[in-house]
Amino acid sequence: MSDILDELTKRRADAVAGGGKDRVAAHHAKGKLTARERVELLLDEGSFEELDMFVAHRTTDFGMERTRPAGDGVVTGWGTINGRMVYVFSQDFTVFGGSLSETHAQKICKIMDMAMQNGAPIIGLNDSGGARIQEGVASLAGYAEVFQRNVLASGVVPQISVIMGPCAGGAVYSPAMTDFIFMVEDSSYMFVTGPDVVKTVTNEVVTAEDLGGASTHTKKSSVADGAFHDDVEALAEIRRFFDFLPLNNRDKVPSRPFFDDPARVEESLDTLAPENPNQPYDMKELIFKVADEGDFFEMQADFAANIITGFVRLEGRTVGVVANQPRVLAGVLDIDSSRKAARFVRFCDAFEIPILTFVDVPGFLPGTAQEYGGVIKHGAKLLFAYGEATVPKVTVITRKAYGGAYVVMASKHLRGDFNYAWPTAQVAVMGAKGAAEILYRSELKDADKIAARTEEYERNFANPFRAAERGFVDEVIMPHSTRRRVCRAFASLRTKSLHNPWKKHDNIPL
Ligand code: HXC
Repeated sequence: MSDILDELTKRRADAVAGGGKDRVAAHHAKGKLTARERVELLLDEGSFEELDMFVAHRTTDFGMERTRPAGDGVVTGWGTINGRMVYVFSQDFTVFGGSLSETHAQKICKIMDMAMQNGAPIIGLNDSGGARIQEGVASLAGYAEVFQRNVLASGVVPQISVIMGPCAGGAVYSPAMTDFIFMVEDSSYMFVTGPDVVKTVTNEVVTAEDLGGASTHTKKSSVADGAFHDDVEALAEIRRFFDFLPLNNRDKVPSRPFFDDPARVEESLDTLAPENPNQPYDMKELIFKVADEGDFFEMQADFAANIITGFVRLEGRTVGVVANQPRVLAGVLDIDSSRKAARFVRFCDAFEIPILTFVDVPGFLPGTAQEYGGVIKHGAKLLFAYGEATVPKVTVITRKAYGGAYVVMASKHLRGDFNYAWPTAQVAVMGAKGAAEILYRSELKDADKIAARTEEYERNFANPFRAAERGFVDEVIMPHSTRRRVCRAFASLRTKSLHNPWKKHDNIPL
């Protein structure tokens, strides 16, 4: 009997050894944790239940039958994060570069199927050279199986990808179909084809970092939602992020004990919006001051910073925040900010996360770059996303809400449940000066007359009351009581029930 037990112990030890001491040492030398160390840090201590530890590949080409490491380069299973269930796969770069074989794919598919069936999120820790070259089409088929499950799981359970090494080919397309992608600075890359192929095909010389490093994907391409300094910080932050998410699309948002007065008054908010409408201020200050304990998990902080997206809690429950940022491009809506916010709004709606919108927007950004780039279609994404969302929507207009952008930003007309405005709000077709210059074009040469017209327009329209008279603004509120008002609003919407007409699916402008 003891022989049998010893055999199991030995086999387990072999599996845990991954690609062997030397490869693990080389991996550590790059500042990276192993696949198993990552799982241990991600999950609650002792909660990991591994599956398929002894699965090995079946390839015989290229002498592969001589190397059949147990586990086949990916650690899979389930565990908990702060007591809540999650399925995890963690690719082992020390085994064939974490490359995906037919059996490696089957392991991932197994936990994806279980996650969907049992209603728990999937976290993928990706560190893979893509399709296993020795397996040819079998590994491509493996990827396709994973992709298909990514599609089916979308909107059913949250899918989170963490890129923790060089990821190429298929290894980037699966993450691309998940809800969120996070990267690790200086050790993770994502590209469809690496620098060598790029040089051959386009003659461009580019480093891996420039082509697909964390900076590229968080600032330029917006493929990634965030980046962290190292593996340890990344895994700690994923734990923090996970706590905001519901487990599946039928679950409610998590509710946690909170230690912050929902009626907390913030006098400083009364002077947050400067009197001069052209003067910027930091919208994040409002978010921090409204959130429970000032806790805000921002998404895509380094991309399209003219709009802010992220998660807070109000009375212990998760709320998605979308806010124009007057400090960047005056908070204007453009192609990038519309795309960024639209995707965020859709995620929230898919998982029944209520949405809080803070509005200070001068309109859509004019210009050929925007029009040629398709701002009409991209702006429509945000309009569409807000319009189709059935989750509780609470909006606070702090200052400008001009033109089409007023309508887009979760206005009453798009089924906003509560639309509040600060007394500093200006709900109008456009800014007063622009309006006067169009309406009184013949007086343009006379600066005094235009100034008088501008003042007249300002008096008439640069306020929240015209909109409030029509019920487009439900109430003009004191800035210092914003937290209390939005907490009460969301509390009143906990039993909200709103359904869109039956359809196979919508046709959002992609
Ligand atoms: C098999 C692979 C592999 C792969 C790496 N290895 N990628 N084995 N299949 N795809 C192995 C290496 O042979 C090496 O084995 C070990 O992993 C470490 O690789 P290194 O090259 O030494 O590491 P590094 O210098 O860090 O470079 C990592 C890398 C590079 C950037 C990922 O290995 C690379 O470019 N790999 C190929 C990437 C690629 O083109 N993949 C196919 C994509 S096609 P030893 O034994 O020496 O330690 C694809 C199609 C999917 O994915 C289509 C879906 C739409």
